[in-house]
Amino acid sequence: MIKKATDSVWNKKKQAEEDPWELTFHMAPPIFWMNDPNGFTQFKGDYHLFYQHHPFSPEWGPMYWGHAKSKDLVFWEHLPIALAPDQEYDADGCFSGSAMEIDDELVVMYTGNVWTGEDHDQDLKQVQCIATSRDGVHFEKATDNPVIEEAPEGDIHPYHFRDPKIWKHEERYYCVLGSRTKDHHGQVLLYRSTDLKDWEFVSVAAKSDGTLGFMWECPDMFTIDGHDVLVMSPQGVEPEGHLYHNLHQAGYMTGELDYEQGIFEHGEFQLLDYGFDFYAPQTLKDDQGRRIMIAWMAMWEDDMPEQAYDRAGAMTLPRELFYEKGRLIQRPVAELERLRLDGISYQDVLIEGDSQLPGLEGDSYELYLHADVRKAERFEVKLRTNEEIGQETVLRMDRENGFFILDRSRCGAGSGGTRKVALDGKKLELQIYVDRSSVEVFINGGEKVMTARIYPDADAQGISFSSDGKVKIDALHFWKLEKSIHPIS
Ligand code: FRU
Repeated sequence: MIKKATDSVWNKKKQAEEDPWELTFHMAPPIFWMNDPNGFTQFKGDYHLFYQHHPFSPEWGPMYWGHAKSKDLVFWEHLPIALAPDQEYDADGCFSGSAMEIDDELVVMYTGNVWTGEDHDQDLKQVQCIATSRDGVHFEKATDNPVIEEAPEGDIHPYHFRDPKIWKHEERYYCVLGSRTKDHHGQVLLYRSTDLKDWEFVSVAAKSDGTLGFMWECPDMFTIDGHDVLVMSPQGVEPEGHLYHNLHQAGYMTGELDYEQGIFEHGEFQLLDYGFDFYAPQTLKDDQGRRIMIAWMAMWEDDMPEQAYDRAGAMTLPRELFYEKGRLIQRPVAELERLRLDGISYQDVLIEGDSQLPGLEGDSYELYLHADVRKAERFEVKLRTNEEIGQETVLRMDRENGFFILDRSRCGAGSGGTRKVALDGKKLELQIYVDRSSVEVFINGGEKVMTARIYPDADAQGISFSSDGKVKIDALHFWKLEKSIHPIS
């Protein structure tokens, strides 16, 4: 099955090269469907990234684990498919999971999924499984799989039980699992083990108070700067003001995990990303001590115009996490600077009305700017513009209402709309990454982040600025970026 799936993806690559929206510096499979990042870890010094993959079409289907590795989180090499749904206990999918390097082996823990009837919301059986690899490429599933065969007793849904994230604390291994109560409130379960085979259920570590959705998927638990953090992806949170307008959310809570009782005392839920396309993030701690996060840059049930080119889904850029006063700050990993080609810089530019700056245009670039916005109520940076065809993707500081807005209503193909994040202040700092069909904006040093897929025409390459008062751009840097993900040769 692995060979057939790998051949399907590697032999099909030619067709996909015509895709005008093919991303150039974001990890994605050579072709066909991907969703969540899985098994994000380091093994023998290399970064390994797996992902939920359907290697036969640009639609979700029985899940395999796609696989890539990198020395620097920037340049990625595709590897053969790592896991196929080839056992009775995972026959309908090797669902999400995580990985660790243990005694020269790369160990992954994942969810085996089996449909037991027609209604995939109710008729399913999910179990937790282990697979190991010595060379970091070929995996063997453990003979004692599944290592967790059933959801625990109590107010825990027996079937929706998935996405193990493993880590080591003192002498034991721990894992968090996505779950829901019997009456459909999201929660996270904590397990522990000494050998990754015998797992003891400790407790429900955290659960929804009724406002945080019907299921928590893809939990991740880690410590940063002495604080414990639970990252998870709640499904079905209702919109509230300008928040939660995507179908599902991805966010975190900071607090303290009591490892003995298995209870996570925590603060409020906060979103990780305020754009459109960010789900199921996973983190690793690398050998430099950095906590790095990557996510699926897409959203369930949204349009994916790239499916016309046999592609669907991609990863966000890897982001380093920092803890600051109960919040997580995200910055693109420093290695991304290696992508910078020729640069252009400006200093002390006054923007009033509409303007453009010579040399600024393209479809794959990094744009940094620092501006004094106190004399304007509205300041806009427009990306991927083409006036003739009326295309633009707009980043708008709306000081009057205290929002920063990502507006993709006229971005091109795909679904449009706006997303907002509360923001005020006299200064605005933006670090923007535009790839051929994506935009990621890190606002004010990564305090807030907004991510979106956009599908403009290839000749929508303009960049312009607009304001209703005087905006002084103190510093601006622009770099075209090198292509870092290549098709299989
Ligand atoms: C999250 C998710 C996981 C599951 C996987 C299946 O996007 O639904 O909970 O393991 O995708 O592909």
